[in-house]
Amino acid sequence: MKQETIALVQESWQDVSLISATAAALFYKNLFLADPSLRPLFSGDIATQGLRLMQMIGAAVNKLDDLPALVPILESLGKRHVGYGVEDRHYETVGAALLATLRQGLGEEFTPAVNAAWAEVYDVIANTMKSAANQQQAVEAS
Ligand code: HEM
Repeated sequence: MKQETIALVQESWQDVSLISATAAALFYKNLFLADPSLRPLFSGDIATQGLRLMQMIGAAVNKLDDLPALVPILESLGKRHVGYGVEDRHYETVGAALLATLRQGLGEEFTPAVNAAWAEVYDVIANTMKSAANQQQAVEAS
């Protein structure tokens, strides 16, 4: 991953974290509008869940320049998501909801370069989580 991509994502995330509760609420609004069938997967309090999500994205964003440390964290997160009923196809919906939230939260700061950098970073996160989840499911099925 290019240093420029990492810098764009880290800088824009700092601004999103200033409005983290609002951003989390916006994210779930976007997500459940896009696919209402995802709502029942979330059993806990949505505000609490939103804070956990924001913390985890923040932790991932801060570790982008240390992928060897980040990958195992994302792998275990991906495996836990199997138990939450999350399937591969859901990652696309979540990615679109996240990018829409960033666009709404960042306004003019959400330039095409920032958009492309986030799309790339989300793909890395989602692909790492999905491949660990698939390995986990293959082990369970064998
Ligand atoms: C960038 C990708 C994602 C990140 C960083 C993320 C982060 C998190 C975190 C930190 C938790 C708290 C529990 C734990 O740590 O195991 C969680 C739970 C959860 N996530 Fe994700 N997640 C991602 C993708 C997804 C996707 C694609 C879905 C599909 C709808 C999803 C649905 C859920 C559900 C249902 C829970 C459990 C909520 C509950 O028990 O009420 N997540 N996620």
